[in-house]
Amino acid sequence: MNTAQNPTLETSRKLLYVGSNSDLFRKDISKNLEFVYTVRLFADTSGLERAVKGEPPAALILDDMIPPKGGINVISHYRSIRRYKSLPIVFAIDQNDRETIANAKTYNGVECLIKPYSVNDLQVAISRAASAGVEAEWKTIEPVQRQALTQTLHSFNAIADMINDEQPVVYEDVRESCGPLVNAVSDGNYKDMLRGVQDHDNYSFVHSLRVATFLSLFGHAIGIRGEDLMTLSTGGLLHDVGKMFIPHEVLNKAGKLSDDEFTVMKSHVTHTNGYLGQTDLPRGVIVIAGQHHEKLDGTGYPDGLKGTEINQLARMAAIVDVFGALTDKRVYKEAMEPEKALGMMSEWKTHLDQELLGKFREMLLDAATID
Ligand SMILES: [Fe+2]
Ligand SMILES: [Fe+2]
Repeated sequence: MNTAQNPTLETSRKLLYVGSNSDLFRKDISKNLEFVYTVRLFADTSGLERAVKGEPPAALILDDMIPPKGGINVISHYRSIRRYKSLPIVFAIDQNDRETIANAKTYNGVECLIKPYSVNDLQVAISRAASAGVEAEWKTIEPVQRQALTQTLHSFNAIADMINDEQPVVYEDVRESCGPLVNAVSDGNYKDMLRGVQDHDNYSFVHSLRVATFLSLFGHAIGIRGEDLMTLSTGGLLHDVGKMFIPHEVLNKAGKLSDDEFTVMKSHVTHTNGYLGQTDLPRGVIVIAGQHHEKLDGTGYPDGLKGTEINQLARMAAIVDVFGALTDKRVYKEAMEPEKALGMMSEWKTHLDQELLGKFREMLLDAATID
């Protein structure tokens, strides 16, 4: 996508500064991040400092190898200035330099990126750093909704780590993390939570939290309570967990996916099934995760299930998943108005269960969920 044709796209991207004297490092970071962020590169600290003064970035990526005195000195410099005390910093440092790693960890708001790093390590470090501002604002929202955000995010990050370490998901932990979300939804007290997550940098988390919330609201509105409501909530949070196996350049691509890329993207369901299959989970969670891309006419994936072959929970999840994606804000698109999204979805009669869609629409209108 050519963002030059649409200036709003460029301005909605978060700004990242990269400081390193290594051409290779700067190019590597730029190559892996420029499809999501606006990236500016600096070979020494003087240019970098001028830029930070002019326009502070969403996050600063510092290589330890930056002249004249190395990245750790730049960190120490910024943390000594009140204005930059919480400037998010990702610090790239060799795994053998244990002393500097330990030193860097004593500073607030510094994510260490240990070399050699994978693209995934890089993405996770940037996302965590660039979300620090959004997460800090959660402190001001009402406790149950704040807990719903912090606990589900913690659980989501823990799952990313477990996938990295080839460990299975611990259902009890996920279930516990969804407790405040279910309470917030049951009390009709969730709007700040939806607003608070919108600008978070981890899009997979944003989408999964929104799906968990809308699915719980939907379930609550049609009379689902107790443990079954918990299943809807955890199912929503886990429904796309297989996307953590998909390369970031496919997952975050702004333009249309090629046929090959779409095949890779669709495999997230197979990855989800494989990963969640290692743990004993409620059947509802498995159904939501495994069938949310099936379509009534059998053209969905992965199994091409038709009509009532698709479990009702999955038909609900399909509605919520599409609604969530259409009304989400992304770096390359504005959020669609809920009414417009529901109007479009009511045309997709061969894909979505229209009776359930009617109930979902009613729920949104009754609750005036979206301002
Ligand atoms: Fe999905
Ligand atoms: Fe999804």
